[in-house]
Amino acid sequence: MTSSTDIIGIRSDFPALNGTMRGKDLVYFDNGATSLKPQIVMDALDGYYREYSANIHRGVYEMSERATAAFDRARETMYRFLGVDPEKGEVIFTRGTTESINLVAYAWGMNVLGPEDEIVLTAMEHHSNIVPWQQVARRTGASLRFIPLTEEGTLEEDGITATIGPRTRLVAITGMSNVTGYVPPLKTIRREARRHGALVLLDGAQYVSHHPVDVQDLDCDFLAFSGHKLCGPTGIGGLYARRTLLEQMEPFHFGGDMIREVHLRESTWANVPEKFEAGTPNIAGAIGMAAAAEYLMNVGMESIARHERELNAYMYDALSTLDYVTLYGPVSDSERGGIFSMNLEGVHAHDVGSLLDQQGVAVRTGFHCAQPLMAHFGITGTVRASFYLYNTPDEIDLFVRALERLYGILR
Ligand SMILES: Cc1ncc(COP(=O)(O)O)c(C=O)c1O
Repeated sequence: MTSSTDIIGIRSDFPALNGTMRGKDLVYFDNGATSLKPQIVMDALDGYYREYSANIHRGVYEMSERATAAFDRARETMYRFLGVDPEKGEVIFTRGTTESINLVAYAWGMNVLGPEDEIVLTAMEHHSNIVPWQQVARRTGASLRFIPLTEEGTLEEDGITATIGPRTRLVAITGMSNVTGYVPPLKTIRREARRHGALVLLDGAQYVSHHPVDVQDLDCDFLAFSGHKLCGPTGIGGLYARRTLLEQMEPFHFGGDMIREVHLRESTWANVPEKFEAGTPNIAGAIGMAAAAEYLMNVGMESIARHERELNAYMYDALSTLDYVTLYGPVSDSERGGIFSMNLEGVHAHDVGSLLDQQGVAVRTGFHCAQPLMAHFGITGTVRASFYLYNTPDEIDLFVRALERLYGILR
């Protein structure tokens, strides 16, 4: 595990961790929803707004040049963070994962798909990776197919090979379930998609913040991610897509900054990536997200992943001793990221969440934007605890003690 001194150092980078909740020291286990922000990200945002908050790519004056340089540097940092070739311009800034998936749905799906085509999904997807495809299917006549889930919410090779077929044009799948932490067998999925000439979209909202990412290794066609889940600000994220696809695709939004020439009745488009970035971008957000990515790279994504694996094993062992806890998701450690969804026998998830709040523990309760997965498990919601680099085994001990106490009260 990352040594305790490392963790103490890391924790001191996050001002919110000095805070209290309901008068207790904060235990922040809601990282699946959003992560806390290190001081360095606040400084980057503050620096832009305080010192050089000009618009980019337009001004001929120094302040605008400074903003432009910082924005362009932010994109270069994201290239490094994701292993993208800087020459190719394959990262588009968006508002986050939801907008990135909508971009692919509208700019690619709506224009390319037809009644003969199939989009393959799973029932464990976040609503952001289901609802846009439902709209594409409605408008284009394409069909949706779902790789079957096992009882514990995982995928098996047979189901993957049986669902992805010659009509599949796209497999859109999460890199890590935001409910169970399950990491699906991406290699098998990609192999089957490639075999049938289908594209792969990876919903990286959870995956990207917890794993070292190299898009060359991941070898997906689209990768959507959110800045706020990787220690960055809200309202910013991105889409990686292969250059050849970006060149073929129609723009998503239309207006200023995405054009080459505008005439009264027709226009032509700017190069990739600007073609997909109409209007004034979230300049501060991009700068803040890049500061977060730089911070995570300095800590080391491998160390973060290792630390979380250790926390997972610790949590799993601790929860396994409580016979009134039902844990959802894979049994195998190797398939699980740092997200635990559970229910306590006979107790409503919201009651658990409220009592944990009284103990200073922040968790999420409900259906986690994944109603089809809840239906699969035959439940309406869970209590979800999700970790990040600054969480510790002591916090897990405190969480488990709090569960024991509240179960005693509620039963
Ligand atoms: C797996 C997954 N996909 C998509 C999203 C949507 O991300 P955002 O709300 O940042 O667009 C989330 C957010 O929780 C998620 O966990």
